[in-house]
Amino acid sequence: MSQSLFTVSDFDSSFYKRLFARALEIESGAYKSPQELQSKSLGLLFFEPSSRTNWSFQKAGLDLGLRVMSTYVDEKTSLSKGESSQDTLELFINMGFDLIVTRSKFEDQLKDFFLKRTDQTFINAGFGSFAHPTQALLDAYTWSKDWSSQEAPKILILGDLKHSRVVRSHLRLASILGYQVGLCPLSGLGLEASEYEEFKPSEVFESREKALDWADIVMPLRAQKERFLSESQKSYVPKPLRADELKERHWLMHPGPITWGEDMENELMRYSKSLISQQQKSGVTCRAALISLLLEETTK
Ligand code: CP
Repeated sequence: MSQSLFTVSDFDSSFYKRLFARALEIESGAYKSPQELQSKSLGLLFFEPSSRTNWSFQKAGLDLGLRVMSTYVDEKTSLSKGESSQDTLELFINMGFDLIVTRSKFEDQLKDFFLKRTDQTFINAGFGSFAHPTQALLDAYTWSKDWSSQEAPKILILGDLKHSRVVRSHLRLASILGYQVGLCPLSGLGLEASEYEEFKPSEVFESREKALDWADIVMPLRAQKERFLSESQKSYVPKPLRADELKERHWLMHPGPITWGEDMENELMRYSKSLISQQQKSGVTCRAALISLLLEETTK
């Protein structure tokens, strides 16, 4: 029986404490990958583009001494000849990897298939606008190292929330780890009213000024145009975050990729309290920690 990570709700806070402790050990060089882990294979199958998630999973696997194969499903694969994504994933599973990391568009069929295959350990590396668990985890790991206050941090997520798997993953993780999430969507790009039955943000703001007054950490998101369906969504008006809106106490994060000039003005490239570079580094250590813990579980 394998234990996979599809959404952050698949594990509890004690697992995530172990995960962050393992990531710290990896970062400090104290963790030595055991011999039995080094004989394992890691397969990455991406149906959607990615830079940081794909590369950091590959680097994490290499740092642990695993045998790593990464592939994108593009015109060179048999999907272009009419094979379904479900058959493509099944084929990849039959290659015999110990752990599979996969990213895909939202397809109910693929989600059900993913959840039913308890004989295969998976990590979800981004699934439509539904979930991107490792992004939320690496973000929380990143700020946890800088956050010395007794109070849980207040994270403000701005921009296109409607199409964001990152915001939904943070809303799930916040209820497990106990941090606060405030939302300030771009006009017409908020969550659906029905989603508030599942998701309980601490605050939802219309005014960005009030939102920024509330926040400790500010996380603008890009408009995910590849998921826009209606003409009204396509005619959205960007509202880049400006340097003069940020106060001294604000930390700045962005899961990437960033559309400079749309999500944030270019001046914020030099923001002194930016954690963006740290997020990219945490991507490797957090994912290495997760891979090692999941593979340990399957070898018990
Ligand atoms: N944050 C994130 O998922 O980035 P990539 O699409 O580059 O992997």
